[in-house]
Amino acid sequence: NLMLSWQRTAYHFQPEKNWMNDPNGPLFYKGWYHLFYQYNPDSAVWGNITWGHAVSKDLIHWLYLPLAMVPDHWYDINGVWTGSATLLPDGSVVILYTGSTDEKVQVQNLAHPADPSDPLLLHWIKYPGNPVMVPPPGIGTLDFRDPTTAWLTPDGNWRLTLGSKVNETGISLVYQTTNFTSYELLDGVLHAVPGTGMWECVDFYPVSTTEEIGLNTSAFGPGVKHVLKASLDDSKKDYYALGTYYVENDTWIPDNPVADVGIGIRYDYGKYYASKTFYDQHKQRRVLFGWIGETDNEAEDIKKGWASVQSIPRVVLFDQKTGSNLVQWPVEEVESLRLTSTEFDKVVVGAGSVVPLDVGTATQLDITAEFEIDSETLEGTIEADIGYNCTTSGGAAGRGTLGPFGLLVLAEDSLAEQTPVYFYIAKDTDGDYRTFFCADESRSSLANDVVKYVYGSYVPVLEGEKLIMRLLVDHSIVESFAQGGRTVVTSRVYPTQAIYGAARVFLFNNATAANVTASLKIWQMNSAFIRPYFNDHHI
Ligand code: FRU
Repeated sequence: NLMLSWQRTAYHFQPEKNWMNDPNGPLFYKGWYHLFYQYNPDSAVWGNITWGHAVSKDLIHWLYLPLAMVPDHWYDINGVWTGSATLLPDGSVVILYTGSTDEKVQVQNLAHPADPSDPLLLHWIKYPGNPVMVPPPGIGTLDFRDPTTAWLTPDGNWRLTLGSKVNETGISLVYQTTNFTSYELLDGVLHAVPGTGMWECVDFYPVSTTEEIGLNTSAFGPGVKHVLKASLDDSKKDYYALGTYYVENDTWIPDNPVADVGIGIRYDYGKYYASKTFYDQHKQRRVLFGWIGETDNEAEDIKKGWASVQSIPRVVLFDQKTGSNLVQWPVEEVESLRLTSTEFDKVVVGAGSVVPLDVGTATQLDITAEFEIDSETLEGTIEADIGYNCTTSGGAAGRGTLGPFGLLVLAEDSLAEQTPVYFYIAKDTDGDYRTFFCADESRSSLANDVVKYVYGSYVPVLEGEKLIMRLLVDHSIVESFAQGGRTVVTSRVYPTQAIYGAARVFLFNNATAANVTASLKIWQMNSAFIRPYFNDHHI
């Protein structure tokens, strides 16, 4: 089936077939990046969850390995759920993961490599004393999951956190251990936010406020802030906040209570969930994976035989320029897929116009684009434009004084199918400009049984900065980064016409009163090698 097979991505990670969800236990070990993932070996829908496993030398080309762990004990017989790896100072690895027991109680289990000298970490041994953590009094048996990577405190204890809820308050519990087999629940919680519901896939890690490098999960001290991330089960959205970790009493306080976890900033305003970072000691960076699910219906997934991809791994850094957010940027290795490029210098896009960009086939692209708005317009009198919202303000077709303008990708010639990614500049009553970065899926597919969102958010733009965006286009995924990764939007789209040679790129400007000038560099992207490591199954 041409229409369905074409949706498979060319350089995003996805299994050969069947269902995938959360990234699990990412780590760099003896020369290989390891990615585990929630995987159903039997079908393209969620269920019978195991740990799929793949390795890579560069986070882009992947080799599939046999399943790392399957449900085979009473404490995980209903699923080997999400977990994290911790690299110990002596170089050994431990994994903690959630098991759904024979009675569907959520418990935490320990596993370690059967052969630590095997760089592929093919075989895993589950600790005979599992489970190592069970729901404590007051915590629901179905609300206790997804342990983080552990960090070492200055007094020599290991701690980890995991998500739960009490009534509708999302919380993160902290456990302490010295040996990874016995754990003590610490008093209080790392953090709690009323009204946010169950916290899944909590992530907790330090970022440097002074250097553009990643930090080991156990880093503390001056020049360090801590990021707390929760995946909200109710809305399926990943929210993070920057704050300070107090190791003495084991609490974390957000820098800005208005932008607390679950109510403030998101990693990605599109289709993106259950993300997890790891510290890459090989390149001294913190790398983020996120699950990009489907927005078609389950029947389609069963027909096409697979569901979900992983985002291109992103380097995460504290934004020293704004001081109030992270920046996310695709790992540099993705640039090794760049083939020929086409440059467009200072293309003027008049108010209300569309300009085609001839780059040939446009299904696999890496696009960098820079926009300048006609300065005369900015000096003129512009009416205030308060309350702009990517989702509710008419999308790419809605016209304002200073936007929307940007790119149409995965578009076919008639524009009947198109995915616009764009900026919109709104003027506040106080005269300040606020810039939004949005993606509009409403015309992304002629199919009507797929969900089509318009989404995005505010993006900080500092004095003197041009408006810049980078897009990774890959058949049915568009990952879009504004202002160096301050705001990110991932679109999951299902074109039926804008496929193969029919896919094009355009510039558009739907502002009523401003010309924009755009300069771009667009690369064709090669496909990544993502295939089985072994040709046979005799291992
Ligand atoms: C998040 C999640 C986790 C759980 C896993 C089960 O998507 O629900 O909380 O461990 O997926 O597959």
